[in-house]
Amino acid sequence: MTELKDTVRSFWEQTSCGEIYAAGGDAQQCFEAQARARYAMEPFIFPFAQFPQGLNKDVLEIGVGMGADHVEWARCGPRSLAGIDLTDRAVKFTQARLSQFGLHSDVRVADAEHLPFPSSSFDIVYSWGVLHHTPDTSRAINEVWRVLRPGGSARVMIYHHPSLVGYMLWVRYALGAGRPSTSIREVYSHHLESPGTQAFSVLDALRLFGRFSKITASIQLSNGDLLEGEAGQRHKGHVLSAARLIRPRWLIRRAGRRLGLFLLIDAVKWHAVVHSWRPAMRGGSACLDRFPVGISGTA
Ligand SMILES: C[S@@+](CC[C@H](N)C(=O)[O-])C[C@H]1O[C@@H](n2cnc3c(N)ncnc32)[C@H](O)[C@@H]1O
Repeated sequence: MTELKDTVRSFWEQTSCGEIYAAGGDAQQCFEAQARARYAMEPFIFPFAQFPQGLNKDVLEIGVGMGADHVEWARCGPRSLAGIDLTDRAVKFTQARLSQFGLHSDVRVADAEHLPFPSSSFDIVYSWGVLHHTPDTSRAINEVWRVLRPGGSARVMIYHHPSLVGYMLWVRYALGAGRPSTSIREVYSHHLESPGTQAFSVLDALRLFGRFSKITASIQLSNGDLLEGEAGQRHKGHVLSAARLIRPRWLIRRAGRRLGLFLLIDAVKWHAVVHSWRPAMRGGSACLDRFPVGISGTA
Protein backbone atom coordinates (compact mmCIF):
# COMPACT_ATOMS: atom_id res chain seq x y z
CA MET A 1 0.00 0.00 0.00
CA THR A 2 1.35 3.46 -0.86
CA GLU A 3 2.12 5.91 1.91
CA LEU A 4 -0.73 8.19 0.82
CA LYS A 5 -3.23 5.33 0.74
CA ASP A 6 -2.15 4.32 4.20
CA THR A 7 -2.85 7.90 5.35
CA VAL A 8 -6.26 7.76 3.68
CA ARG A 9 -7.00 4.49 5.46
CA SER A 10 -5.89 5.89 8.85
CA PHE A 11 -8.10 8.94 8.32
CA TRP A 12 -11.24 6.84 7.73
CA GLU A 13 -10.32 4.38 10.47
CA GLN A 14 -10.67 7.24 12.96
CA THR A 15 -14.25 8.11 12.00
CA SER A 16 -16.42 6.70 9.26
CA CYS A 17 -18.30 9.03 7.01
CA GLY A 18 -21.54 10.23 8.64
CA GLU A 19 -20.72 8.85 12.07
CA ILE A 20 -21.46 12.25 13.51
CA TYR A 21 -25.15 11.56 12.82
CA ALA A 22 -25.13 8.15 14.51
CA ALA A 23 -25.90 9.46 17.97
CA GLY A 24 -28.22 8.50 20.80
CA GLY A 25 -29.58 5.18 22.00
CA ASP A 26 -28.49 1.66 21.09
CA ALA A 27 -26.74 0.55 17.91
CA GLN A 28 -29.99 0.18 15.98
CA GLN A 29 -31.16 3.67 16.92
CA CYS A 30 -27.78 5.11 15.99
CA PHE A 31 -27.90 3.48 12.54
CA GLU A 32 -31.47 4.67 12.02
CA ALA A 33 -30.54 8.23 13.03
CA GLN A 34 -27.61 8.21 10.60
CA ALA A 35 -29.72 6.88 7.72
CA ARG A 36 -32.48 9.43 8.41
CA ALA A 37 -30.01 12.31 8.38
CA ARG A 38 -28.24 10.97 5.30
CA TYR A 39 -31.33 10.61 3.15
CA ALA A 40 -32.85 13.87 4.37
CA MET A 41 -29.71 15.71 3.25
CA GLU A 42 -29.04 13.63 0.14
CA PRO A 43 -32.45 12.50 -1.15
CA PHE A 44 -30.99 12.36 -4.66
CA ILE A 45 -29.15 9.16 -3.72
CA PHE A 46 -32.32 7.14 -4.37
CA PRO A 47 -33.04 8.23 -7.95
CA PHE A 48 -29.35 7.93 -8.75
CA ALA A 49 -28.64 4.52 -7.19
CA GLN A 50 -31.95 2.97 -8.32
CA PHE A 51 -31.69 0.28 -5.67
CA PRO A 52 -34.71 -1.74 -6.95
CA GLN A 53 -32.73 -2.45 -10.13
CA GLY A 54 -30.53 -4.68 -7.98
CA LEU A 55 -33.27 -7.35 -7.97
CA ASN A 56 -31.75 -10.65 -9.19
CA LYS A 57 -28.53 -8.88 -10.19
CA ASP A 58 -24.94 -9.25 -9.01
CA VAL A 59 -24.14 -6.01 -7.24
CA LEU A 60 -20.90 -4.59 -5.84
CA GLU A 61 -20.58 -1.47 -3.69
CA ILE A 62 -17.16 0.13 -3.40
CA GLY A 63 -16.54 2.09 -0.18
CA VAL A 64 -19.51 1.01 1.94
CA GLY A 65 -18.76 3.43 4.81
CA MET A 66 -21.40 3.03 7.52
CA GLY A 67 -23.44 0.80 5.25
CA ALA A 68 -26.71 2.72 4.84
CA ASP A 69 -26.75 2.35 1.05
CA HIS A 70 -25.50 -1.22 1.32
CA VAL A 71 -28.56 -2.17 3.36
CA GLU A 72 -30.74 -0.58 0.66
CA TRP A 73 -29.07 -2.78 -1.96
CA ALA A 74 -29.47 -5.86 0.24
CA ARG A 75 -33.18 -5.12 0.78
CA CYS A 76 -33.84 -5.12 -2.96
CA GLY A 77 -33.12 -8.80 -3.46
CA PRO A 78 -29.89 -8.98 -5.46
CA ARG A 79 -28.76 -12.40 -6.70
CA SER A 80 -25.46 -11.67 -4.99
CA LEU A 81 -24.18 -8.67 -3.10
CA ALA A 82 -20.61 -7.70 -2.23
CA GLY A 83 -19.16 -4.63 -0.58
CA ILE A 84 -15.65 -3.46 0.10
CA ASP A 85 -14.00 -0.69 2.06
CA LEU A 86 -10.43 0.20 2.83
CA THR A 87 -11.17 0.21 6.55
CA ASP A 88 -12.05 -2.37 9.16
CA ARG A 89 -14.26 0.17 10.86
CA ALA A 90 -16.57 0.56 7.84
CA VAL A 91 -16.72 -3.20 7.25
CA LYS A 92 -17.70 -3.82 10.88
CA PHE A 93 -20.35 -1.08 10.82
CA THR A 94 -21.82 -2.48 7.62
CA GLN A 95 -21.83 -6.08 8.84
CA ALA A 96 -23.50 -5.01 12.10
CA ARG A 97 -26.09 -3.02 10.20
CA LEU A 98 -26.90 -5.89 7.82
CA SER A 99 -27.22 -8.39 10.65
CA GLN A 100 -29.79 -6.19 12.40
CA PHE A 101 -32.09 -6.73 9.44
CA GLY A 102 -31.11 -10.36 8.84
CA LEU A 103 -29.54 -9.34 5.52
CA HIS A 104 -26.42 -10.79 3.94
CA SER A 105 -23.52 -9.58 1.84
CA ASP A 106 -19.92 -10.50 1.21
CA VAL A 107 -18.44 -7.39 2.90
CA ARG A 108 -14.68 -7.22 3.27
CA VAL A 109 -11.68 -4.98 3.55
CA ALA A 110 -10.21 -4.40 0.10
CA ASP A 111 -8.77 -1.70 -2.09
CA ALA A 112 -10.76 -0.14 -4.94
CA GLU A 113 -7.60 -0.04 -7.02
CA HIS A 114 -7.18 -3.83 -6.73
CA LEU A 115 -10.64 -5.35 -6.57
CA PRO A 116 -10.52 -8.96 -5.35
CA PHE A 117 -13.07 -10.18 -7.91
CA PRO A 118 -12.75 -11.87 -11.29
CA SER A 119 -13.43 -9.88 -14.44
CA SER A 120 -17.04 -9.60 -15.63
CA SER A 121 -18.61 -10.66 -12.35
CA PHE A 122 -21.13 -7.86 -11.63
CA ASP A 123 -24.15 -6.27 -13.30
CA ILE A 124 -24.06 -3.12 -11.17
CA VAL A 125 -21.11 -1.43 -9.48
CA TYR A 126 -22.06 1.41 -7.17
CA SER A 127 -19.82 3.83 -5.32
CA TRP A 128 -20.85 7.02 -3.51
CA GLY A 129 -18.20 9.52 -2.51
CA VAL A 130 -15.23 7.18 -2.53
CA LEU A 131 -13.10 7.09 -5.66
CA HIS A 132 -11.87 10.70 -5.30
CA HIS A 133 -10.22 9.61 -2.01
CA THR A 134 -8.07 6.89 -3.51
CA PRO A 135 -4.71 8.09 -4.87
CA ASP A 136 -5.16 6.54 -8.34
CA THR A 137 -8.78 7.24 -9.27
CA SER A 138 -8.20 6.26 -12.87
CA ARG A 139 -6.96 2.83 -11.84
CA ALA A 140 -10.00 2.34 -9.59
CA ILE A 141 -12.35 3.24 -12.45
CA ASN A 142 -10.56 0.77 -14.71
CA GLU A 143 -11.19 -1.82 -12.02
CA VAL A 144 -14.89 -0.94 -12.04
CA TRP A 145 -14.89 -1.49 -15.79
CA ARG A 146 -13.02 -4.80 -15.46
CA VAL A 147 -15.38 -6.38 -12.91
CA LEU A 148 -18.52 -5.28 -14.77
CA ARG A 149 -20.12 -7.57 -17.33
CA PRO A 150 -20.74 -6.17 -20.79
CA GLY A 151 -23.98 -4.22 -20.52
CA GLY A 152 -23.36 -3.69 -16.80
CA SER A 153 -23.87 -0.34 -15.15
CA ALA A 154 -21.50 1.81 -13.06
CA ARG A 155 -23.09 4.40 -10.76
CA VAL A 156 -20.39 6.51 -9.23
CA MET A 157 -20.36 9.81 -7.35
CA ILE A 158 -17.06 11.66 -7.26
CA TYR A 159 -16.33 15.23 -6.26
CA HIS A 160 -16.80 17.91 -8.86
CA HIS A 161 -14.66 20.91 -9.67
CA PRO A 162 -15.46 23.81 -9.76
CA SER A 163 -17.74 23.83 -6.73
CA LEU A 164 -18.94 26.29 -4.11
CA VAL A 165 -17.32 24.09 -1.45
CA GLY A 166 -14.01 24.42 -3.30
CA TYR A 167 -14.29 28.22 -3.48
CA MET A 168 -15.24 28.49 0.20
CA LEU A 169 -12.31 26.32 1.23
CA TRP A 170 -9.99 28.35 -0.99
CA VAL A 171 -11.12 31.63 0.59
CA ARG A 172 -10.59 30.13 4.05
CA TYR A 173 -7.33 28.20 3.56
CA ALA A 174 -5.57 30.00 0.69
CA LEU A 175 -6.71 33.63 0.59
CA GLY A 176 -7.44 33.82 4.32
CA ALA A 177 -4.04 32.30 5.09
CA GLY A 178 -2.25 34.85 2.90
CA ARG A 179 -1.41 32.25 0.21
CA PRO A 180 -3.60 33.22 -2.76
CA SER A 181 -1.36 31.32 -5.19
CA THR A 182 -2.51 28.02 -3.65
CA SER A 183 -4.65 26.20 -6.18
CA ILE A 184 -8.14 24.97 -5.32
CA ARG A 185 -6.97 21.42 -6.08
CA GLU A 186 -4.26 21.75 -3.42
CA VAL A 187 -6.88 23.02 -1.01
CA TYR A 188 -9.10 19.97 -1.72
CA SER A 189 -6.12 17.73 -1.17
CA HIS A 190 -5.29 19.20 2.24
CA HIS A 191 -8.60 20.38 3.64
CA LEU A 192 -11.46 18.36 2.18
CA GLU A 193 -11.75 15.13 4.15
CA SER A 194 -8.93 12.59 3.78
CA PRO A 195 -5.49 13.76 2.58
CA GLY A 196 -5.11 13.73 -1.18
CA THR A 197 -8.83 14.14 -1.95
CA GLN A 198 -9.38 15.14 -5.57
CA ALA A 199 -12.16 16.76 -7.56
CA PHE A 200 -12.91 16.41 -11.27
CA SER A 201 -14.47 18.48 -14.01
CA VAL A 202 -17.14 16.96 -16.24
CA LEU A 203 -14.52 16.67 -18.97
CA ASP A 204 -12.13 14.89 -16.58
CA ALA A 205 -14.93 12.47 -15.73
CA LEU A 206 -15.71 11.76 -19.38
CA ARG A 207 -12.03 10.98 -19.88
CA LEU A 208 -11.81 8.80 -16.76
CA PHE A 209 -14.84 6.81 -17.93
CA GLY A 210 -13.71 6.83 -21.55
CA ARG A 211 -13.78 3.03 -21.81
CA PHE A 212 -17.50 3.03 -21.06
CA SER A 213 -20.34 3.80 -23.40
CA LYS A 214 -23.34 6.03 -22.67
CA ILE A 215 -21.80 8.13 -19.95
CA THR A 216 -24.08 10.59 -18.22
CA ALA A 217 -22.44 13.03 -15.85
CA SER A 218 -24.60 15.41 -13.85
CA ILE A 219 -23.72 17.95 -11.22
CA GLN A 220 -25.55 18.03 -7.91
CA LEU A 221 -25.43 20.69 -5.17
CA SER A 222 -24.40 19.09 -1.88
CA ASN A 223 -25.30 20.12 1.64
CA GLY A 224 -21.71 21.38 1.82
CA ASP A 225 -22.35 23.86 -1.02
CA LEU A 226 -25.48 25.02 0.76
CA LEU A 227 -23.84 24.94 4.22
CA GLU A 228 -26.62 22.77 5.56
CA GLY A 229 -26.46 20.05 8.20
CA GLU A 230 -23.09 19.28 9.72
CA ALA A 231 -21.23 20.06 6.49
CA GLY A 232 -18.08 21.93 7.25
CA GLN A 233 -17.88 20.58 10.81
CA ARG A 234 -14.17 20.13 10.32
CA HIS A 235 -13.90 23.83 9.52
CA LYS A 236 -14.93 26.14 12.31
CA GLY A 237 -14.85 29.89 12.94
CA HIS A 238 -16.95 33.05 13.11
CA VAL A 239 -16.85 33.62 9.36
CA LEU A 240 -18.23 30.15 8.70
CA SER A 241 -20.93 30.58 11.34
CA ALA A 242 -21.95 33.91 9.78
CA ALA A 243 -21.93 32.34 6.30
CA ARG A 244 -24.25 29.58 7.52
CA LEU A 245 -26.72 32.23 8.70
CA ILE A 246 -26.71 34.50 5.67
CA ARG A 247 -26.13 32.00 2.84
CA PRO A 248 -28.71 32.75 0.10
CA ARG A 249 -29.71 29.12 -0.39
CA TRP A 250 -32.69 29.86 -2.66
CA LEU A 251 -30.39 31.80 -5.00
CA ILE A 252 -27.74 29.07 -4.96
CA ARG A 253 -30.37 26.45 -5.76
CA ARG A 254 -31.53 28.51 -8.73
CA ALA A 255 -28.28 29.89 -10.11
CA GLY A 256 -25.46 27.81 -8.68
CA ARG A 257 -26.40 24.33 -9.82
CA ARG A 258 -23.32 23.98 -11.98
CA LEU A 259 -21.16 24.60 -8.92
CA GLY A 260 -22.24 21.57 -6.93
CA LEU A 261 -19.64 19.37 -5.25
CA PHE A 262 -21.17 16.10 -6.38
CA LEU A 263 -20.65 14.68 -9.86
CA LEU A 264 -23.02 11.79 -10.51
CA ILE A 265 -21.82 9.45 -13.22
CA ASP A 266 -23.91 6.77 -14.77
CA ALA A 267 -21.93 4.73 -17.27
CA VAL A 268 -22.59 1.50 -19.12
CA LYS A 269 -19.87 -0.92 -20.07
CA TRP A 270 -20.11 -1.38 -23.80
CA HIS A 271 -22.05 -4.08 -25.46
CA ALA A 272 -20.12 -5.39 -28.40
CA VAL A 273 -21.89 -3.80 -31.34
CA VAL A 274 -21.56 -4.22 -35.08
CA HIS A 275 -20.08 -0.82 -35.72
CA SER A 276 -18.75 -1.19 -39.22
CA TRP A 277 -17.85 -3.66 -41.93
CA ARG A 278 -14.19 -3.31 -42.60
CA PRO A 279 -13.29 -3.61 -46.28
CA ALA A 280 -10.11 -5.38 -45.21
CA MET A 281 -12.15 -8.24 -43.88
CA ARG A 282 -13.67 -9.64 -47.00
CA GLY A 283 -15.29 -13.01 -47.20
CA GLY A 284 -18.42 -12.14 -45.30
CA SER A 285 -17.08 -11.86 -41.79
CA ALA A 286 -18.20 -8.88 -39.78
CA CYS A 287 -15.81 -6.79 -37.83
CA LEU A 288 -17.17 -6.42 -34.36
CA ASP A 289 -15.84 -3.09 -33.24
CA ARG A 290 -15.94 -2.65 -29.55
CA PHE A 291 -15.93 1.08 -29.60
CA PRO A 292 -18.15 3.05 -27.28
CA VAL A 293 -21.57 3.55 -28.79
CA GLY A 294 -21.83 7.10 -27.55
CA ILE A 295 -20.73 9.54 -24.93
CA SER A 296 -22.93 12.26 -23.57
CA GLY A 297 -22.22 14.72 -20.84
CA THR A 298 -25.02 16.63 -19.20
CA ALA A 299 -24.19 19.30 -16.75
C1 LIG B 1 -16.66 9.71 2.33
S1 LIG B 1 -16.68 8.01 2.79
C2 LIG B 1 -18.08 7.43 1.85
C3 LIG B 1 -18.64 6.16 2.42
C4 LIG B 1 -20.04 5.79 1.91
N1 LIG B 1 -20.02 5.43 0.52
C5 LIG B 1 -20.99 6.91 2.17
O1 LIG B 1 -21.48 7.54 1.22
O2 LIG B 1 -21.24 7.21 3.35
C6 LIG B 1 -15.29 7.35 1.90
C7 LIG B 1 -15.05 5.88 2.12
O3 LIG B 1 -14.18 5.42 1.10
C8 LIG B 1 -13.31 4.47 1.63
N2 LIG B 1 -12.14 4.39 0.75
C9 LIG B 1 -11.22 5.33 0.48
N3 LIG B 1 -10.29 4.85 -0.38
C10 LIG B 1 -10.64 3.59 -0.67
C11 LIG B 1 -10.08 2.56 -1.48
N4 LIG B 1 -8.95 2.74 -2.18
N5 LIG B 1 -10.70 1.37 -1.52
C12 LIG B 1 -11.83 1.14 -0.82
N6 LIG B 1 -12.42 2.07 -0.04
C13 LIG B 1 -11.83 3.28 0.04
C14 LIG B 1 -13.02 5.02 3.02
O4 LIG B 1 -12.51 4.03 3.88
C15 LIG B 1 -14.38 5.54 3.44
O5 LIG B 1 -15.13 4.57 4.12
